[in-house]
Amino acid sequence: MTVDRSQPVTDPIEEGVLLRPVKGKVIAVTSGKGGVGKTFVSANLAAALTRRGLKVLVLDADLGLANLDVVLNLYPKLTLHDVFTGKATLDDAILKAPGGFSVILAGSGMVEYSRLTPEVREDFLVLMTEVVPRYDVVLLDTGAGISDVVLFALSLASEVLLVATPEPTSLTDAYATIKVLATQQRRQRIRILVNQASRPGDGKAITTQLQMVLNRFVGAAQKSQAGDALPGIRLVHVGDIPVDAAVKEAVMRRQLLLTQTPGSPAGLAVAQIAGRLVETVIRPDEHT
Ligand SMILES: Nc1ncnc2c1ncn2[C@@H]1O[C@H](COP(=O)(O)OP(=O)(O)OP(=O)(O)O)[C@@H](O)[C@H]1O
Ligand SMILES: [Mg+2]
Repeated sequence: MTVDRSQPVTDPIEEGVLLRPVKGKVIAVTSGKGGVGKTFVSANLAAALTRRGLKVLVLDADLGLANLDVVLNLYPKLTLHDVFTGKATLDDAILKAPGGFSVILAGSGMVEYSRLTPEVREDFLVLMTEVVPRYDVVLLDTGAGISDVVLFALSLASEVLLVATPEPTSLTDAYATIKVLATQQRRQRIRILVNQASRPGDGKAITTQLQMVLNRFVGAAQKSQAGDALPGIRLVHVGDIPVDAAVKEAVMRRQLLLTQTPGSPAGLAVAQIAGRLVETVIRPDEHT
């Protein structure tokens, strides 16, 4: 990697999964189940935040099976892999996306990034430490699930935005992910975005239901491990995006929904969620 290694990153945390956010605004977009819309949400939220005048970077943190390039119709010559292996500088790998924001893409099918080796961990940490201060907000488009690579990416983020759909399988996996983040990383707040919602109110109801199950789990864990109390975790609902044929159409055309059909129900919902994130996460001081 071409970044400065003269100051080795000291990493006392062997497992590499404890919460240790990089300084700055980093929102990790994640999910329990795959295919729920993380990449679509990351790209279009980035476009909406850019329209609001913010300097935004999306980093494809789905290191093994990246596909942000497909959604953005980019054909990168240089990726994160080239930065990690020293073939490119960080600046070479930062590309302009159609929505006006910056992206760093990851190569797909990279088996070496499917495991969290000490090298991957250090390279990723150094990269984040260098790149985050340059932007108002960095979105991490992570892979699904609770692999050590995903958990490491989440541990570096100041905020986690968990995308779930109302399907029972997605909710079960969302719950499992939240539980791991609460117990292993001791994260105290997770923001919930319900995508492919079929009715207004879906997301609020789902968030309340997940919170109730979590409270029961935390209560039981606290009783059984007296002295090592598990802190409570708070789920915050940030909004819903409805099922919308315009999303599939935009993805098929490899266009941003916010460029192609910003007035579609899903496009309006993304813009509204971006506004809420600015007020509550990115620039909360200006909105109190
Ligand atoms: N609100 C929506 N309405 C209709 N279709 C949607 C919606 N959101 C996502 N989709 C469909 O779901 C597909 C998968 O979305 P996406 O690739 O963003 O998921 P992902 O969570 O990033 O998947 P992976 O876990 O593989 O990274 C999209 O290509 C689109 O066709
Ligand atoms: Mg994806």
